[in-house]
Amino acid sequence: MEKITSVRGFKDVLPGETEKWSFVEKKARNIFKDFGYCEIKIPILEKTELFVRGIGETTDIVEKEMYTFCDRGDEYLTLRPEATASIIRAYLEHNMHEADPVSKLFTIGPMFRRERPQKGRFRQFYQIDVEIIGLNDPRVDAELMLMLVHFLSSVGLSDLKLEINSLGCPQCRPLFRETVITFLRDKEDVLCPDCRRRLETNPLRIFDCKVDTCQETIASAPVILDYICDECRQHFANVKEYLTMFDVAFYINERMVRGLDYYTQTAFEVITESLGAQNAVAGGGRYDGLAQELGGEDIPGVGFAIGFERLISMIPMENEYFENRPHLFIAALGEEAQKFAYTIMNKLRLEGIRTEIDFFDKSLKSQMRRSNKLKSYYTLIVGQTEIEHKVATLRNMETGEQSTIVLTDINAVVDELKNIEFENVKI
Ligand code: HAM
Repeated sequence: MEKITSVRGFKDVLPGETEKWSFVEKKARNIFKDFGYCEIKIPILEKTELFVRGIGETTDIVEKEMYTFCDRGDEYLTLRPEATASIIRAYLEHNMHEADPVSKLFTIGPMFRRERPQKGRFRQFYQIDVEIIGLNDPRVDAELMLMLVHFLSSVGLSDLKLEINSLGCPQCRPLFRETVITFLRDKEDVLCPDCRRRLETNPLRIFDCKVDTCQETIASAPVILDYICDECRQHFANVKEYLTMFDVAFYINERMVRGLDYYTQTAFEVITESLGAQNAVAGGGRYDGLAQELGGEDIPGVGFAIGFERLISMIPMENEYFENRPHLFIAALGEEAQKFAYTIMNKLRLEGIRTEIDFFDKSLKSQMRRSNKLKSYYTLIVGQTEIEHKVATLRNMETGEQSTIVLTDINAVVDELKNIEFENVKI
């Protein structure tokens, strides 16, 4: 029968990689806790309307990348392409602002976008998403970027570049929008068909177009920082001032627009040369109008999301570092020795000591090979003669040193082994 394969753009994460994933998650949880964040879990499926209104009808995500279906003829549902709209929906639905005017939330989970798969771009990908809801204060924007950069470097990433921009607000952005339209009107014929359409629907999206002629055209276009109002200018100046105070290096990218429509004022991305075309490890910004757009009160927010797969692909540490090497391997020959080994193994596991045996009833030599393959720290050798003499040999697999363990009572052996200094890999 033909083998069934996974869906294009949906990938498995196998043992050997998953250890890195848990390492990253653990680090994220610890650091976010230090900065005062709580975890929120939100559904993978939402009403389509949430993303149409939240992300914007004329964005690439909503126009062509969402996995949407009609649920038995009842209503349109979508696999979430991002987490921010869902978090704000949950925040409003549970009146979280009544309990506390400021909510600091994070979530980790899969997102879905039907993009063309390529290196670093998948149709199901994971994000680590962080949001602060309830404050429009430039200090918060800077603090968030500090935490992002700190987290990325704490998992071993270097050569990162934090780029920032201001996207203005509903008061000042329309003027910029009009200026861009005027600038591009007489250059329409060199724009790609998508951008020609964007010129009518969402002209700022043209800044994000990857087509060479569009990039060349936009290179001499007006930039938003020359058009933002005094309030936005002051906000941006303060963000920069705090980033400098926190020693966070940043670059101003006045052409960054981000791919989602909800942004106001601060926008930022962390990019790296090492990822190739999909060079953004993380992106985020302020979205002060989103809560209102989703039918709630006028509540500001700012946040970011990190692309988990992209982050993992950049972690420099060897996979070996994350392996669950057994502390102890028990090489046992003969029925009685095997029985003994099996009992000891499970008792040790209950004590938190990673122990393995061989199930194939092979020679001692092949069991030692297996122990080596698993990179066990120690091997306990129990053959028929050892059982008769009530001793076993404990071998340090790294130094080759051997010692004898007296096999009187199982619990005494467990106690003795438990007290060995295992080279515990701390992650
Ligand atoms: P985004 O820029 O669309 O922002 O995505 C954030 C990150 O997710 C990207 O920088 C990238 O690392 C990763 N990513 C996006 N698409 C893919 C893909 N197809 N395959 C692999 N990785 C991908 C957002 O999603 C916003 N919700 C961020 C945010 C939170 N803004 C405010 N709060």
